[in-house]
Amino acid sequence: MSDQFTAPITTVAEIPALRAMIQTQRSQHASIGFVPTMGALHSGHVSLIEAARRDCDFVVVSIFVNPTQFGPNEDFDKYPRVLEQDLAKCQSAGADLVWTPTKEIMYPPHFSTHVTVETLSQTLEGATRPTHFEGVTTVVTKLLLSCLPDVAFFGAKDYQQQAIIRRMCLDLNIPVEIKTCPTIRDADGLALSSRNAYLSPAERASALALSRALKLAEEKVRAGEADLNQVKAEMRQLLNTTPLVKLDYATIVDADTLEEISSPQSEMVALVAAYVGATRLIDNSRLSLP
Ligand code: PAJ
Repeated sequence: MSDQFTAPITTVAEIPALRAMIQTQRSQHASIGFVPTMGALHSGHVSLIEAARRDCDFVVVSIFVNPTQFGPNEDFDKYPRVLEQDLAKCQSAGADLVWTPTKEIMYPPHFSTHVTVETLSQTLEGATRPTHFEGVTTVVTKLLLSCLPDVAFFGAKDYQQQAIIRRMCLDLNIPVEIKTCPTIRDADGLALSSRNAYLSPAERASALALSRALKLAEEKVRAGEADLNQVKAEMRQLLNTTPLVKLDYATIVDADTLEEISSPQSEMVALVAAYVGATRLIDNSRLSLP
């Protein structure tokens, strides 16, 4: 009879121990896949781990709620922390190792180096959250340099984040391939997010306005609408007339430069951000020409 007992997934906190484990794999010619996360894992995160499992021999997931990417009035303290559940999800998605550094490991005393990606970090999310992306790019640099994976997996859900990380790896010659995986949604269209846990049932219903605004943009542009300002106005109208929703931005941009555009082009993306109650949500969608 087979033994039902499965050993728990291996975890490591310290960077030298992490490096030693990855080095052991490398010496056996294993390719390394890496999925950075802040925990509170859902099917979106799981899809990244599964992609890494398909593409790489050894899969490392990091779980670290990075304090420096939260603004002073944001949700760092109440961000969900559910390590035992996360470890079970990592294991069933096929991860080999979970790296759980502490704040002291990532930011020891006298820490004073920051990575800034100009321009791309200043618009959209960066306009409302001016310190956010510097926190992200600094921690992702440290995460990538600690693991030195062959491939790192990010979600299209955070479109601007993956664009900034791609720019950063090119600019700093960080030798890691960045793969961007599709946004995973609930059946009704709401993009999965750890922050959805904050939503009341009424807010959860109103939050559907974000994906509906994106659907509207997709349909208009696919049907041949040539005036993107008109499309943006309709997206804003939809969001502004939904109860509990406070619009931050609804726009259409060049997929590479993130600059706002007024006429359709081959590579473009619609992005929305809104507060639903007290919870800030973002979503986006690639638009296709007719
Ligand atoms: P976190 O919000 O935990 O997200 C980790 C990864 O999961 C990111 O690449 C994100 O884009 C992806 N993800 C989130 N929701 C998704 C969804 N519905 N479908 C597909 N992928 C999704 O993003 C961060 O953490 C942090 O900024 C981090 C990169 C870890 C740096 O601290």
